[in-house]
Amino acid sequence: MAHTDSGDSRTTPVGTTKVALVTGATSGIGESAARMLLKKGFVVYGAARREDRLRELEQCGVRTLRMDVTDEESMRVGIDTIIRDENHIDVLVNCAGYGVVGAIEDIDLEDARRQFEVNVIGPMALVRLIAPYMRERGDGRIVNVSSIAGKVPAPLGGWYHGSKFALEGLSDCLRLELAPWGIDVSVVEPAPVTTEWAPIAHKALEKTSKGGAYESMAHKVADSFEFNHRPGLASRPASVARAIVKAATAKRPRTRYAVGPVAKSTMVSRKILPDRAMDWVIRKSYKL
Ligand SMILES: NC(=O)c1ccc[n+]([C@@H]2O[C@H](COP(=O)([O-])OP(=O)(O)OC[C@H]3O[C@@H](n4cnc5c(N)ncnc54)[C@H](OP(=O)(O)O)[C@@H]3O)[C@@H](O)[C@H]2O)c1
Repeated sequence: MAHTDSGDSRTTPVGTTKVALVTGATSGIGESAARMLLKKGFVVYGAARREDRLRELEQCGVRTLRMDVTDEESMRVGIDTIIRDENHIDVLVNCAGYGVVGAIEDIDLEDARRQFEVNVIGPMALVRLIAPYMRERGDGRIVNVSSIAGKVPAPLGGWYHGSKFALEGLSDCLRLELAPWGIDVSVVEPAPVTTEWAPIAHKALEKTSKGGAYESMAHKVADSFEFNHRPGLASRPASVARAIVKAATAKRPRTRYAVGPVAKSTMVSRKILPDRAMDWVIRKSYKL
């Protein structure tokens, strides 16, 4: 858990090892990325809320921080801890996120605000805390885990897709702003991945659509979730983690890493098809 003792024996000798902070490290993509960066020789700080999962992560050598990305104080304390113990942060991987799914008309505005707090404001709050240290050293990498949802729309996905579209735009602006200090910004864009994301989103969809005008649409969207997230078609977290590691370590990282054949073909369709044709393809794929 977060270090409180300044004499902590795990403190890394200054400047010897690359230091990475990975949010969303207790599950799925973030957990896989934290473990992979550790194997690559990084000192890795994994952050999330669930303490039991954080303890499991600690056992493999990841240093852990209890952090809620909607709680500024927990983020500030986490970053202060890393700076106190390591003196620098080389890589920030913003991976914490979840999906609010349901008709825009049906989603409570409180739930919509929370979706943006976790998926958009939280990652940028961490950038605000970390960028000054990266600028001081004239070096750093920021890897934001977006989604194909940041490029293409989906029915009943408005708030989630909106949050990822926002993350994409912010990442592009950040890259321009931070380039003078040698800091690079990449987005990683997975298609469906076999993690806890889909069950969480599925539950939200059931709750918001029950007994309402969008219930039958929700059943179709839920069927499609199940189909797209089944093992074999969906990517594994490790595939996404490999792209994150590339973005963190490549000499000249790409601005975007689409992960998996579904993501790549979706991006191509988005590029070549006009909006109405894309709408038609999407509605067909959901049997709407
Ligand atoms: N799975 C997919 O199909 C898919 C596809 C494209 C993009 N993505 C994106 O990939 C990222 C990782 O998702 P995943 O698939 O790995 O899902 P996951 O297995 O559900 O993991 C989500 C992680 O985010 C953390 N988290 C959630 N809310 C948080 C908060 N308020 N503060 C701090 N941590 C929080 C969770 O930890 P705690 O609950 O312990 O805090 C967990 O570690 C997300 O941004 C997601 O949108 C996923």
